[in-house]
Amino acid sequence: MASASTNDIEFRSVTKNYGSVTAVTDINLNVPKGAFLALLGPSGCGKTTCLRMIGGFEQPSQGTVLIDGREMNGVPAYRRPINMVFQHYALFPHFNVEQNVAYGLRQMRPRIATAEIDRRVGEALEMVRLGGFAKRRIHEMSGGQQQRVALARAIVNRPSVLLLDEPLAALDKKLRSAMQIELQTLQRELGITFVLVTHDQEEALSMADVVCVMSAGRIRQLGSPQEVYDRPADLFVADFVGKTNRVDATMEADGATLRLGDGSAISAAARQRVVPGQAIVAIRPEAMRLTRAQASDIMSFKGVVTHRIFLGSSAEYAVAVPGLGDFLVTADRRGISESDLVEPGETVFLGFDPAGAHVFSASSAA
Ligand SMILES: Nc1ncnc2c1ncn2[C@@H]1O[C@H](COP(=O)(O)OP(=O)(O)OP(=O)(O)O)[C@@H](O)[C@H]1O
Ligand SMILES: [Mg+2]
Repeated sequence: MASASTNDIEFRSVTKNYGSVTAVTDINLNVPKGAFLALLGPSGCGKTTCLRMIGGFEQPSQGTVLIDGREMNGVPAYRRPINMVFQHYALFPHFNVEQNVAYGLRQMRPRIATAEIDRRVGEALEMVRLGGFAKRRIHEMSGGQQQRVALARAIVNRPSVLLLDEPLAALDKKLRSAMQIELQTLQRELGITFVLVTHDQEEALSMADVVCVMSAGRIRQLGSPQEVYDRPADLFVADFVGKTNRVDATMEADGATLRLGDGSAISAAARQRVVPGQAIVAIRPEAMRLTRAQASDIMSFKGVVTHRIFLGSSAEYAVAVPGLGDFLVTADRRGISESDLVEPGETVFLGFDPAGAHVFSASSAA
């Protein structure tokens, strides 16, 4: 029976304990139908646990998981309209690739015609770029190829929700980028809800429309990729979702002047105002401009380049600033000839717009 719920998946105050270990605490989450949600966070923060509770492989210790508006407590995995690609993909080793992918379809009742199964399996294998591998045995495939078989096996069933636990972790960078685009296209075309678990912030930001940043079993921030990157809720999110330079500061009693360690001051914009006391100013590496001459129109720190990390299309510089510490600055190489690259040992200026920085009270930092 169709439900009127616009949320495909909902967590209501969900806590999960494994014996004395609390894996996740008081998770509240709504995933709208057709959304692409990424659960992002460091190892052990509870991502897989959340996914397994959606899939029905674990039950909450407290609270409720709903799918399509229906409470799922006690509903086993095979009764849920869900397919899951596991972090440790369990393929049938004695089957070939095609048999692995077709397995779910062959179990369906009423039966699906063999020609239709062949067509869908072929399509799924093309999608994961394994068109020529149908007859290969699983043990003759590389780890990344096996991961793609697991992916094909899940998408071939056209579930209404697809759960993906680090589905691209075993792939090389190029193949991973290609598969990210394929997965995104697939999700848009099929209109099904995807929940992707990853500890790779780039993957989460590039693929998902909603990112759920987790740490130590709790949600730290839920928002669009742009929101979590541009307006991180706290220092943990600022640090985990991208790189951040932290500058220790003191918010003065007026609640508007931030005094930095080198004596300079920033007058805080409304959204940068925190309680008087210790504070941390967070500045993204790409928000700073490295120049040999001091620009007069923007605030800048003077420092000495200690390292240059060549990244091909860009370069990262580590710059030591007396009284403030070490900074990381990204410099786009567009329009810069080799001879213009700043060298370690050079004195430089790091210009930035203070209004673009994030300010957190030190007491809220984790
Ligand atoms: N079956 C289990 N029994 C006991 N503790 C568990 C069990 N499964 C997970 N945990 C614990 O729960 C916490 C969350 O684990 P979970 O697997 O959800 O983390 P994760 O975010 O998926 O990490 P990773 O990125 O390393 O896969 C961890 O502290 C883990 O040790
Ligand atoms: Mg995991």
